[in-house]
Amino acid sequence: MNQEEKFQLVKEAYENAYAKYSHFQVGALVLTQDGRTYLGANVENASYGLSNCAERSALFNAYSNGIRKDDIIELVLIGKSQDYLYPCGACRQVICELMHADAKITLFRLDGKYKELQVKDLLPYAFDERELDAEA
Ligand code: THU
Repeated sequence: MNQEEKFQLVKEAYENAYAKYSHFQVGALVLTQDGRTYLGANVENASYGLSNCAERSALFNAYSNGIRKDDIIELVLIGKSQDYLYPCGACRQVICELMHADAKITLFRLDGKYKELQVKDLLPYAFDERELDAEA
């Protein structure tokens, strides 16, 4: 998929954001090896802490449809900010578990400029499932 197609799709998710309280829309898009696409938007709640970020919405959407980390090649993001929208800390933790370390993260600005990172750039010294195997 080319950058223009990614931009159009992630903007679609962005337009679907339910950002009633912050008015800060975020859109995300998961891309798979075989060309499938899964959108996610932030979905807020009057009980603010229950709001879900776009990144997690998109990844949970993909996983709910049977997609797993081996299938995912890229996560694309866009947010209502002047500059690039970087994933929040909670989403970085989830991204690290649900995507491979060398998978791509593409950040779009609203003007169409973009920047490419990898999952491994997001969260050094991450907690992961290997810690759960330690003997007490
Ligand atoms: N938000 C995201 O969707 N992703 C992020 O990485 C940062 C924050 C959402 C959560 C909330 O709905 C709004 O943006 C303001 O924080």
